[in-house]
Amino acid sequence: MRLLHVAGLQAAYGPTQALFGVDLDVGEGEVVALLGRNGMGKTTTIRAIFNLTTPVAGVLEFGGDDIFRAPPHVIARQGLGLVPEGRRCFPNLTVAENLLAAARPGRWDKAKVEGLFPRLAERGGQFARTLSGGEQQMLAIGRALTTNPTLLVLDEATEGLAPVVRQDIWRAIQTLKANGQSILVVDKTLSELLPVADRCVILENGRSVWTGRALDVDVAVRDRYLGV
Ligand SMILES: Nc1ncnc2c1ncn2[C@@H]1O[C@H](COP(=O)(O)OP(=O)(O)OP(=O)(O)O)[C@@H](O)[C@H]1O
Ligand SMILES: [Mg+2]
Repeated sequence: MRLLHVAGLQAAYGPTQALFGVDLDVGEGEVVALLGRNGMGKTTTIRAIFNLTTPVAGVLEFGGDDIFRAPPHVIARQGLGLVPEGRRCFPNLTVAENLLAAARPGRWDKAKVEGLFPRLAERGGQFARTLSGGEQQMLAIGRALTTNPTLLVLDEATEGLAPVVRQDIWRAIQTLKANGQSILVVDKTLSELLPVADRCVILENGRSVWTGRALDVDVAVRDRYLGV
């Protein structure tokens, strides 16, 4: 079943238009990677879905419901969970408090998240601001999971993290996928992202220009749309 449906999405920062026509679907249980070179509109697309950057035109539906310009609490209640670029947690709350602050009933609770990321259990009493970057990302993912989202959206899943920590994050995402979690994910490390993804959508200058199976992102597709 189709969960997220985005069609002809446009968005602007004041007078500067950044999205000109993004088409993107995520099905139930699917992992979709949103790809594109720097500045092509990945973050803006995610922000527009969540109405953090106001969309100006297009279709945004979630679970068949219209979420175009829906207020944040409606979007959260609909079942969209965001791990934003820059992994924002509540810096002056402890790790444990972060995992309780936004919790909603469902499969994921603090204990389950600590099972996924044992490091968070060890750091439970520590203020979030004192965590390493990798631990903050684990907490940001864990916090989003405690809202029990139907669709988990990650913008830059592993940016700036050491290789060994990145592997922890990818392992966790694989576990989520194996549990049937629907995921929309952005990351720069294609060699790590593609094996996790079922399908990919590539953006160029604020438009969807290629959609297909992750398996079909070959050298030609990379050269054409993703080369530096
Ligand atoms: N706050 C802003 N104000 C004005 N323009 C912006 C703003 N944020 C992004 N843009 C512009 O919107 C376009 C898309 O940027 P966006 O951040 O969505 O790209 P991205 O694909 O996420 O890039 P990256 O891979 O670097 O994260 C770019 O041209 C960028 O300069
Ligand atoms: Mg971005």
